[in-house]
Amino acid sequence: MTKRILILPGDGIGPEIITEAAKVLDKLAGEGLDIALDEGLVGGAAYEATGTPLPPTTLEMAREADATLLGAVGGPQWESLDISMRPEKGLLALRSELGLFANLRPAVLAPQLAAASTLKPEVVAGLDIMIVRELTGGIYFGQPRGIRTLADGEREGFNTLVYAEHEIERIMRVACDIAMQRDKRLCSVDKANVLECTELWREVATRIVQHEYPDIQLSHLYVDNAAMQLVKWPKQFDVMVTTNMFGDILSDCAAMLTGSIGMLGSASLNEKGQGLYEPIHGSAPDIAGQNIANPLAAILSVAMMLRHSLHEPAQADRIETAVNQVLDDGLRTPDILSVGMTEVSCAEMGDAVCAAL
Ligand code: IPM
Ligand code: MG
Repeated sequence: MTKRILILPGDGIGPEIITEAAKVLDKLAGEGLDIALDEGLVGGAAYEATGTPLPPTTLEMAREADATLLGAVGGPQWESLDISMRPEKGLLALRSELGLFANLRPAVLAPQLAAASTLKPEVVAGLDIMIVRELTGGIYFGQPRGIRTLADGEREGFNTLVYAEHEIERIMRVACDIAMQRDKRLCSVDKANVLECTELWREVATRIVQHEYPDIQLSHLYVDNAAMQLVKWPKQFDVMVTTNMFGDILSDCAAMLTGSIGMLGSASLNEKGQGLYEPIHGSAPDIAGQNIANPLAAILSVAMMLRHSLHEPAQADRIETAVNQVLDDGLRTPDILSVGMTEVSCAEMGDAVCAAL
């Protein structure tokens, strides 16, 4: 059966990097991979064209697709819009509407880029962490929320951190399944010393591992300590699992350990195995349209798509090998450039990966 892939370029550097990722998909299709690509609007681009950051047609196409590949959303020109119309809202609504509760954010350091990290090479060499972030609950979606005016006229902003047990259980199972394929070490991150909601998180994490995954070595860290440990000795971690907001923060931190946020892809999965795949970097409006963005995170997101939603692990391996090859060949976009390497554009990098394939 033909697998349907929805492409959502979005804003900023999104269209440039997605063009390169689509080249890779086209190349695989040309070799016989049975896929069909569709394109849609999301984020600021969708707002400009239709007046909303997630048009109903885009949502419908995403529901019907086996997988969605997204570039990035957001930009300064939309920052003054009402929060409900901001580009980010399009992405959040897509995650929520499709039930994409499990966000996998690998932080893997390509050995060729060890010098690009701001941390000492011995601290990061060989780094391979998987952060599993809960993506459709917690404070991002909790009700009530808003900005209200108190009786004395002062305004007050409020959000709600809430997790039901089933939400904690299912993200724990995803994290445990991944840990079982790796080193069987899972670190659950919470703030159980202060927040009741994450006291429950810790309790459920402990129960799931004890009852269902006795082979996993489970540890718990408070989020502040986890942030410190990530920078101090990141190689102590195998798989980390955490709430929506803590995962947002820790995954940026982990990404930077690898030298460039331009190298990392991500997968967001629902219970049906449908996935949204996106680089973890943002829309980088400051370099948009200059053909200098790094398309490797988008290309590696395609590899994750092949592995998690299209059940083509061999093709995923091929893409990762091809990326490794171009790095071995010394090709670098400006964000990962170092002495003695060859600077290439976004499009040249995409072409090089296709050639290496
Ligand atoms: C991310 C981003 C998003 C988030 C924004 C763009 C809404 O920072 O994917 O990490 O906060 O989840
Ligand atoms: Mg983020």
